[in-house]
Amino acid sequence: MKGLILSGGRGTRLRPITYTSAKQLVPVANKPILFYGIESLAACGIREIGVVVGDTHQEIRDAVGDGSRFGVRVTYLQQEAPLGLAHAVLISEDFLGAEPFVMYLGDNLVNDPLRPMVERFTADAPSAQIFLAHVTHPEQFGVAELGPGDRVVHLIEKPEKPPSDLALVGVYMFSSAVFDAVKAIRPSARGELEITDAIQWLIDQGRTVRPYVISGWWKDTGKLEDMLEANRIILDTFQRRVDGVVQNAEIVGKVVIEPGAKIVDSTIRGPAIIGRGATIEQAYIGPFTSIGDGVVIRGSEIEHSIVLEGSSVCDVGSRIESSLIGRNVTIYRSGTRPKSYKLMIGDRSDVGLV
Ligand code: DAU
Repeated sequence: MKGLILSGGRGTRLRPITYTSAKQLVPVANKPILFYGIESLAACGIREIGVVVGDTHQEIRDAVGDGSRFGVRVTYLQQEAPLGLAHAVLISEDFLGAEPFVMYLGDNLVNDPLRPMVERFTADAPSAQIFLAHVTHPEQFGVAELGPGDRVVHLIEKPEKPPSDLALVGVYMFSSAVFDAVKAIRPSARGELEITDAIQWLIDQGRTVRPYVISGWWKDTGKLEDMLEANRIILDTFQRRVDGVVQNAEIVGKVVIEPGAKIVDSTIRGPAIIGRGATIEQAYIGPFTSIGDGVVIRGSEIEHSIVLEGSSVCDVGSRIESSLIGRNVTIYRSGTRPKSYKLMIGDRSDVGLV
């Protein structure tokens, strides 16, 4: 069994962060989303992983390397443009060969361990095994309609009128029959070769497509709210660990303070993580907050947020919440007059003032 992780694409819904960084490398609880997928494949015994990359390939190669630190061997598969999930499968045929494989969308987080699902797939050997979850907004996903005996009858990508609330989760298992499917289908209205259409093709050809409704949580982290929600859920699973320096500070609940971090005259209320070399001074860090490596938070309050490495937030008067702050950003109160907001913000930024 091989693994295929899709890490190309553009990440338009997380702009401006994704102007300068791959969406799969945005950290959740201080770890890039992509790493959760690799770890999850490694945990079910997969050793050979193909990573499909696009424009952001260099950054992904730098972060993941040869895969040895995850105990896997990574092969990079260059996709010339984000032409669809089925196109990503098409270009990976030489790497995958005749072996069955798990396809994992690099911006998805699936909590359920994959091993039992892989075992079931290996035992039954269907052409495809898909994963489904009940969601409140099925129109944002691929949607499945099940018939008698939980047979998959119909799959449709982001339908205006969803036939059910069962969304396709970003993990799929395929036999090599999928290559016939991805070669047979045509691009959708949005110009992509859809994996949903490829699976529908398998169904129409009378091949077996097994559904598996997952019970745990799953997140497609393409949007800010989903990213913050994933951050919340993962931080909540942490155990308290304080490796940094703490002076005159109150550290409450599940808080991870990495080595080299310094917390002075502050309150940190978990679940929260403070990255290596971060400085927290006369500040409040509230629940569900991930503070990246080398970040400085001084004279400010922040909660339910993600701050990426190298940024600083100093003397901000109001509490910052539900925010995603990129790398090397500076936010500060200036004492100069006239009293006004002075902003230098990238394209498509989103600033909410009080
Ligand atoms: O998250 C689950 C959903 O993922 C499913 O319900 C949908 O059926 C499925 O089509 C997919 O929808 P998205 O529109 O969310 O897919 P997105 O474009 O975000 O791509 C998912 C991942 O695959 C992401 O890490 C980028 C990567 N990708 C995407 C495309 C289109 C590639 O590597 N190459 C591509 O050509």
